[in-house]
Amino acid sequence: MSFAAPVPSSVRVGIAGGTGYAGQELVRLLARHPGVSLTAAMSSGGETRRLPSLARIWDGDVQPLDLDSLARTSEVVFLGLPEAAAAGAGAALIERGLRVIDLSGAFRLRDDGLRKRWYPDTGMLPDGTLYALPERSRAALPAARLVSCPGCYPTAALLALQPLADAGLLAGDVIIDAKSGVSGAGKGATDRTHFSENHGSAAAYGIFSHRHTAEMEQALDCAITFVPHLVPLNRGILETIYTRVTPGTAAAAVGAALRAAYADSPFVRLWDDGLPEIKHVAYTPFCDIGWRIDEATSRLVIVVCLDNLLKGAASQAVQNFNLMCGLDERAGLL
Ligand SMILES: NC(=O)c1ccc[n+]([C@@H]2O[C@H](COP(=O)([O-])OP(=O)(O)OC[C@H]3O[C@@H](n4cnc5c(N)ncnc54)[C@H](OP(=O)(O)O)[C@@H]3O)[C@@H](O)[C@H]2O)c1
Repeated sequence: MSFAAPVPSSVRVGIAGGTGYAGQELVRLLARHPGVSLTAAMSSGGETRRLPSLARIWDGDVQPLDLDSLARTSEVVFLGLPEAAAAGAGAALIERGLRVIDLSGAFRLRDDGLRKRWYPDTGMLPDGTLYALPERSRAALPAARLVSCPGCYPTAALLALQPLADAGLLAGDVIIDAKSGVSGAGKGATDRTHFSENHGSAAAYGIFSHRHTAEMEQALDCAITFVPHLVPLNRGILETIYTRVTPGTAAAAVGAALRAAYADSPFVRLWDDGLPEIKHVAYTPFCDIGWRIDEATSRLVIVVCLDNLLKGAASQAVQNFNLMCGLDERAGLL
C-alpha cells in the first residue's frame, strides 16, 4: 500500500452537531487526530454543554450553533446535523469560503427532482460538491469544497457492489436485505426506536420508501429492492445482498474484482473464508465483505457489515477529510 505523507501543520476544524451520535464520534476522532486542531463543537442551541463520555479526550464546551463563529475559527467544518439544518449550514459555510464535510443526506442526490423529493430543504448543490465514498474518490477529493458523505446503508452496499458493477459481473435484480442497530436513527427516541418498542423485536420498515434507495440507484444506475430492518442492537449494519452474476462467471472472478478494487484500501476487509458479522466491525472504522456464489445458477450472495456511526458516518467522514487535505488516509483512525 502507498499513502501520502502527513503534512506537519494542523488543520483548524469545527463540528456542528457535536452532541449527536455521529457528532460525538467525530469529536472523539478529531480531538486525537494528529493533523487537526479541534476548535469548536456546536449543537442546536440553549446552554453550553460538556460531553461526559469524552472527558479527558476533549474537555471543551459544546456551544450553541453559530456559523459566524465557526467561520472565524475553522478552515473545515464537519456537519453532523439533521438534513434541513445541514442544507442551510452547508451552503452558508461554503459561501464564507470554508470547506465542509457533511454527514447528512442534504447534498447527496445530483438529480434536482429526486433531491426535491427526498431532501426538500436543499436548494441547488453548491459548486465543488462531491459525493464521496473515499475508496472511490481519492483523486477527486483534494479539489472538493463540500464533501457529501454517503449514507450508512449505501456505504455498505456500494462498497460491496460497485467493483462488481465496474467489472461487468452483475446481471440481475439487486435485492438488499439490511439490518441496522437503533443508533442509526439518531439520539431522539421515537415510537419505533425507544427501548420497550425495540428490545426483543425486529421490524422491517421503509419498503419502497427509504431515501437511501435513491442514493444507491444513483451510484449503481440500476433499480434496487432495498428492505431495511431495525434490530435491537446499539450499533452496526449487516446487509445480505442477493443478485446474479453473468452466466459462466467463476467464483474466483468475483473475489478477483473485489481484491483488485480494495488492494490499497485500509478500511475494507475481504472475507475469502467465513462471513462477516456485526460484532467484528462494531466500534471500528472497517467495512467487512464476504460472498458466496453458486456457479451452476450464477446466484451471488454478498454479506457486508460496518459500524453505522463509524464507517457509516464519522470515520468515513474523517477518511474523506484526510484525503481532501492530502493527509494519510488512516490518520486519526488506525
Ligand atoms: N446515526 C447514524 O448512524 C448516521 C449514519 C450516517 C449519517 N447520519 C447522518 O448524520 C446526521 C447526524 O445524525 P445523528 O444520528 O448523529 O443525529 P442525532 O443523534 O439526532 O444528533 C443531531 C445533532 O444535530 C444537532 N441539531 C439538531 N437540530 C439542530 C439545529 N436545528 N441546529 C443546530 N444543531 C442541531 C443536535 O443538537 P442537540 O443535542 O442540541 O439536539 C445534535 O448535536 C444526520 O443527518 C444523519 O442522517 C447518521
